[in-house]
Amino acid sequence: MDELARQLAQLTGNSPIQWLTDPFPEPVTIRLGLKRDDLLHPLVSGNKWRKLKYNLLAARQQGLSTLLTFGGAYSNHLYATAAAGKVFGFNTVGIVRGDELAHKPLNATLSFCQSCGMHLHFVTRLDYQRKDDPAFQLELMQLFRLCYILPEGGTNELAIRGTADLIPELITQLGFAPDYVCCPVGTGGTVAGLAQSAPAETTVLGFMALKLPEPTPNLNWVQLTDYHFGGYAKTKLELLSFIRAFEQKNGILLEQVYTGKMLYGIYDLARTGYFPAGATVVAVHTGGLQGRSGELDA
Ligand SMILES: Cc1ncc(COP(=O)(O)O)c(C=O)c1O
Repeated sequence: MDELARQLAQLTGNSPIQWLTDPFPEPVTIRLGLKRDDLLHPLVSGNKWRKLKYNLLAARQQGLSTLLTFGGAYSNHLYATAAAGKVFGFNTVGIVRGDELAHKPLNATLSFCQSCGMHLHFVTRLDYQRKDDPAFQLELMQLFRLCYILPEGGTNELAIRGTADLIPELITQLGFAPDYVCCPVGTGGTVAGLAQSAPAETTVLGFMALKLPEPTPNLNWVQLTDYHFGGYAKTKLELLSFIRAFEQKNGILLEQVYTGKMLYGIYDLARTGYFPAGATVVAVHTGGLQGRSGELDA
């Protein structure tokens, strides 16, 4: 086995399930566990790890030594790709939305990316909109030579294959299929993988971290649209207070963009009788703690 495949195999899977002991007010009785994917790797955490894993193998198999990807200035995906590049020996290029940022001091996320060796290439917001256009990608390859291209957020077929691995791993750990598996949703790659491999008796709940103009039709998972708190990366005091209380009670850090919104939603659903009594609910802690707001410590 090639060195990368060996390293990935060693790291894959086995994130623990942590049962929450003090989750709900009476009379709701459900069992709520957190699948601690945030613990999978110290830097390439959570769903990013699962989404990158088969892509890293594919890049290596194709003989490509540079990963090129796209993101905003606070992107968890850029952060994870930069870290994965450093850990597994790839060069990395980050195409960053907003050419105005090129002349400003780097924020913590971008500084980290640069410290991992990622080359940051800032483009205008207009150019950034062309990120999936093959002609634009060709222009980028002319600048950076042949690269393995990962889309914004890292969602592609191999990423979905990676997140699909979570369900059999979870069922083996539990010894049975849970009634519900929950995850936060951005581009939809993580939830798509979970829904793809979930057995009929498991309902997959996706908590939208962003505001949709209308619900998406014909999904094989349940799309929950009421917990975005105003839109992507928007917060409200109520959300921040919930996260602080959760962290204090359980000793588990969350962040306000994805995991905090999902857990707020799960608690709200439980309070309003959505889950049948005795249901086993497993929420995936998808990591992203690099983006945790300092406000949560205030
Ligand atoms: C911490 C975290 N959780 C959940 C998600 C949502 O994942 P997806 O884009 O696959 O829907 C992201 C996306 O970037 C994320 O960073």
